[in-house]
Amino acid sequence: MTTVSAPGKLMLMGEHAVVYGQPCIVTAVDQRLIVGVEKNTSGRTIIDAPQVRDLRFVEACIAEFKKSYNTAGVDGGLSVSIRSQFSSSVGFGSSSAVTVALLKALSLEYAVGLTERDIFDLAYAVVLRVQGVGSGFDVASALYGGTLYFKKGGEVIEPLHNGVPIVVGYTGVKADTVRLVEHVKNLQERYPEKVDRIFSAIGKLVESGKEAIEGRDRERLGTLFTFNQEYLRDLGVSTEKLETLIAASKKAGAYGAKLSGAGGGDCMIAVVSEENRGRVESAIREAGGEVMNVTTHAPGAIIIPNERISSREGIGAPA
Ligand code: MEV
Repeated sequence: MTTVSAPGKLMLMGEHAVVYGQPCIVTAVDQRLIVGVEKNTSGRTIIDAPQVRDLRFVEACIAEFKKSYNTAGVDGGLSVSIRSQFSSSVGFGSSSAVTVALLKALSLEYAVGLTERDIFDLAYAVVLRVQGVGSGFDVASALYGGTLYFKKGGEVIEPLHNGVPIVVGYTGVKADTVRLVEHVKNLQERYPEKVDRIFSAIGKLVESGKEAIEGRDRERLGTLFTFNQEYLRDLGVSTEKLETLIAASKKAGAYGAKLSGAGGGDCMIAVVSEENRGRVESAIREAGGEVMNVTTHAPGAIIIPNERISSREGIGAPA
C-alpha cells in the first residue's frame, strides 16, 4: 500500500480576483486528509471512503490516471482508502486535497514517476473537469504546502517564507463555490469596468500582503485583510454572519479580518497578536462562530511510510 497525506488550505488574500488573472496568497493548514492505494487481484476498483460525500473527484482521478498511464498496469484491481481530519463543509479544500493525495499515491504505487508539476497539472485538470471552475490555488496548496503566492493555473507558484498568525472562525454555513464564482462572473459581465477595477485593486493588496507576510508585519497585514474584505463585500460574496464574526474579531483587538474563500459562508480569518488571540477567539464564539484550531504553513503532500488505513475510525473524527 502507498499512503499519502495532503493538507487542507485557507485562502489568505485575493479570492475571486485570482480567477481573473490576479495573484492570491494561500496557506496550507495542519488538518490533513490521508489516501492509501494498493493494487489488488480482483480486477475491480474498491473505494473505502466513509467520510467522502462526493466521490466524483476520486472517480475522475482514477479515470484520468488510467487514461494517461494505461501502460502502467492500472487496469488490474485497485483498492483506495480515504480518511480526513476535517469536514468537507468548512471550506478547507477536501476535494483538492483528495485529488492531489490520490494522484501522488497512484504515481508511486504504479511507479510512473510523475513530477510535482505533472501532479499539479493532472490534479488541476481533474478539478476543472468535475467542478468546471477554479484557479487551482487549492491544488497548489495541497501539493506544495506552506504559504504560496499563486497565479491561476499555476502560472506562478512562489513559496513564501512565513506563515501568518490567524484566528479562524467557522460560520456553520457551507459555501457553494461554483455558484459564487458564477455570481461574480455575472457581475463582471454586467459591470466590466467597475468589477475589473475591483480585481486590480485586490491584486495590488495581494502584492502588499506578500511584503507584509515576508516582513512579519502583522499590523499592516491586518489592515490589508480589512481592505480586501471591503472589495469582497462590493462583489456581493460576504454574508451577515461573516460580517458579524469579522466585526466581533476586530472589536476584540484583531489587526484586521476578512472572509476566506468563495464567501457565502465557510470561514473568516483574523490577524492577531499572540497577546490578544484568546480575546479574539472568545469574541468569535460569543458572536456565534466556531473557532477552528489550525496552524498555518503546514507541509504539502507527503508519503507516510508503512501506514495502513484499515479502521473505519481512520485518523480523525468523522466529517
Ligand atoms: C474559492 O475558495 C476561491 C475562488 O477564488 C475560486 C478559485 O480561486 O478557485 C473564489
